[in-house]
Amino acid sequence: MHKPGDVLMVCLGNICRSPLAQGVFENMSKKFNVKVDSAGVANYHAGYPPDKRSIYVAQKNGVDISTQKARQIKVKDFNNFDYIFVMDKQNFYDIKDLISYHKVNSVVQLLNDPFEIEDPYYGNDEGFEIVYDKIYQGCKRVIDNWK
Ligand code: 4NP
Repeated sequence: MHKPGDVLMVCLGNICRSPLAQGVFENMSKKFNVKVDSAGVANYHAGYPPDKRSIYVAQKNGVDISTQKARQIKVKDFNNFDYIFVMDKQNFYDIKDLISYHKVNSVVQLLNDPFEIEDPYYGNDEGFEIVYDKIYQGCKRVIDNWK
């Protein structure tokens, strides 16, 4: 956790939380020159841009995520990224299932460990503000560890 490395942000749909986490982390990690991407455990929204509420809360905070496109996580990702940061425990368990029969190198951890960043999809706009704050804190904690 102390060494800079390539980061993949993961949530369920890759349209609400992980696109925000990708955008925030890209902005924060510029001086480390690392690769940052995001993906979803599910493929429901593959190919789609982030949820409008995520685009809006990002924009309000000076982060542009509007050109991102959702994709599903694949086993290869676990050797192409040093860190896989998940938003909630369900993401964590789903991922452990996915890689159970594979040899992988990535460290898999909750972004805001030990707290979860809950799915805001069925909630209101305020939920997206809360998610943004938690994502910001989680990203900052990772970056501060790298200094
Ligand atoms: P995300 O939110 O995992 O933060 O992208 C969700 C988006 C869509 C759904 C669930 C969560 N969905 O069930 O369609």
